[in-house]
This record gives sequence, C-alpha cells and structure tokens, in this order.
Amino acid sequence: MRVPFLDLNAQTAEVRIQLDEAIAEILDNSAFVLGKWGKRLEETLATAHGVKHGIAVNSGTDALKIALQACNIGPGDEVITTAFTFVASVEVIAQLGAKPVFVDIDPATFNIDVEKIEAAITSRTKAIMPIHLFGQLSDIRAIMKIANAHGLTVIEDAAQSLLSHNDEKYAGAFGKAAGISFYVTKNLGAAGDGGLILTNDDEVRERSLSLRIHGMGKERYYYDDLGYTSRMAEIQAAVLCEKWERLADWNRRRVVIANTYIKELEGTPVITPVTTEGNNHTWHQFTVRTDQRDDLMNYLRSKEVDCSIFYPVPLHLHEPYRAYGAGNGSLPVTELVSKQVLSLPVHPHLSDDQVRFAAEQVKEFCAQATATR
Ligand SMILES: Cc1ncc(COP(=O)(O)O)c(C=O)c1O
Repeated sequence: MRVPFLDLNAQTAEVRIQLDEAIAEILDNSAFVLGKWGKRLEETLATAHGVKHGIAVNSGTDALKIALQACNIGPGDEVITTAFTFVASVEVIAQLGAKPVFVDIDPATFNIDVEKIEAAITSRTKAIMPIHLFGQLSDIRAIMKIANAHGLTVIEDAAQSLLSHNDEKYAGAFGKAAGISFYVTKNLGAAGDGGLILTNDDEVRERSLSLRIHGMGKERYYYDDLGYTSRMAEIQAAVLCEKWERLADWNRRRVVIANTYIKELEGTPVITPVTTEGNNHTWHQFTVRTDQRDDLMNYLRSKEVDCSIFYPVPLHLHEPYRAYGAGNGSLPVTELVSKQVLSLPVHPHLSDDQVRFAAEQVKEFCAQATATR
C-alpha cells in the first residue's frame, strides 16, 4: 500500500469548482493584485487569530522579513532564535544586517528552550523570534515574560502554525508581529507562494503595507523605505480563501491521524512528539525521533511509506550561517535531534488504512531491529 507524504490533487479536488469560478472571475475582471480576495484573506485570518491586522504578501519569507523590518530590526541588532528551522527564519534576519543568535531547543517540542534564552541576551539584543515549529506554539508565555523584562520585541515565526493556539491566544497574537507561510505544502497552501503578516500594531501595519510595495508612501511614486515587490496575487488569495473553508475539517483529520500514530507507536523505542499542556497542535508535521533514523527511513521507503527529514543539518552548520554560530557542538540538543528526526505522512487525505499501514511498518521495523540486536 502506498502512503504518500502529501496529496495535493486530493486537496484541490475538494475545492476545484470554487477555484475554477474564482480564477475565471479574476481573469474576466483583470483584477490581479490588491483586490477583494486579498482583503478577504487578510480580514478572515486576522479575525481567526484574534489579531487586529493581516497583511498579505508574496511568501512566508517576505512576511517575516517585512515584519522584522517594520519592527525596526536592522544592522547591529541581535535576534535570538533557533537553528532547528527552515532556512528562511534565519536568512531574513541576516539579510537585514542583523545577527541571528542561536539558542538550543527543547527536544520534546523542537521549539526554543526558554531556560537558555536569558544567557544569550546581550546589550545588542533587540528581539526574540520564536519558531512555532511543526504546528505547535513555543513556550510563548515564558518568552513574553523574558522579552518584557528585558525590553525586547517578539516577532513570531508562525509559518508552520496557522491556527495553533494555547489556552489563551492564537499564534501571532502574542508578539509585536508574526509571519505565516502559505507555501503549497502548508496546512493552508496556495497554488504557489504566499504569506501573511499578523500584527496588533497600527504602525507595523502601515509600514508593512508600504514595504510590500517598494516602500512607497501615501503618495504614489514617493518612497519612504527600501521595500520589496510583495503584493499577493489575487489568484493566490482566492485559492487560499476557498481552501480556508475546508481547513477546519482538514486540521481535525490531522489530529485524528496524529493521535492514531501516538497510540499505535506506544511501547516502541520510537519517540513520538509531545504536545505541551494547554497547547492545540495543528500537526503540520508528525515528527518522531529514533537513533536508527536512516535505517527506519530506508525501511519505510522500501514499503512505499513516504517520509521526510525536517531538518537534516541545523542552520548554524551551513556555510552562510557559520559566522553566526559557535560551530559544531555549540547546540548539542539541536545537533542530536537533527540526526534523529523523521516526519511521517500526516496529511488529511490519508485513509485510516494508510495510517494504520504506516504505523504497522514502523512497528515492524522496531521488531526487526530489536531481534537483530
Ligand atoms: C519555519 C518557517 N519559516 C519560514 C518559512 C518561509 O515561508 P515561505 O516558504 O512561504 O517563504 C517557512 C516555510 O517553508 C517555514 O517553515
């Protein structure tokens, strides 16, 4: 039985009629950017996250970069974050001339280890950027407490955590600003790239609106800032609005699948992901840990169960980011976890049989591995 990591065709099929209609309307009206779909997306998602403003942009990367810039992060500033994330989180800090300062992660959640943040604060620290990885909030309450005590800005990388929340608020509603990604593989994916800035801050909103069109001020062709071409295409906004209608169901299905894996894999040596108390996990990824990661991956692939490694090499060990880290051994948990992680298929179009089959293969691998020890 084949168990694919993603099934974008099945996702599109659910909304195909609506997408065809919406795209035809956009083509008929030649209303390609900054139109009603973008506005609808911004308002819908801001409301859903309990945040005042949404600003739609071209990608999650742009959302983070514009959010950081709108919060005045620039040359000479230090931004505390993690190295166990997608490259964009750190890339944008460096591109703005600021310095990413890496703090190790909590192995149970893959998110920043809040106990280690204060030791990383210096006189140059301007912000903390927690990455809410795989669909779960970081320990954001503790982060906000530290940030407030030291006068630091918090910008949330919520790229993978649309609609994730704790018992208080949603991702993006804690810090000064947040970035969300709509890359095709995300829980809510565009037909290409897309992103959104969330903020309660009126000034950050105004500046972000300007930055997404080259830093243009209120008057046309007069510029206040060094900006970007980052208007979201109306076609992408329409795709996202139509898929949004299905998202709650899709996320519910992810929870069922994740819980099935957790139950099925109980008692095996494979470590299943932990959801912190009070957190609502949206299961962008279901990531297990094992010291036999590569063998498990090869075994699953031989059984046609797709799986992926997020992320095989932490960012402080990649060439462009070496200058910011203290090298191999400086982030022991991050480095160990990178060698252990394997993400299993958790997309909402998996059948119960496929989920059970995938879990069975993991169990079979564990049984064989134990037998040959
Ligand atoms: C944690 C994280 N940050 C930032 C990004 C950047 O988003 P995008 O790919 O939409 O530019 C991603 C997306 O892949 C991500 O997973």
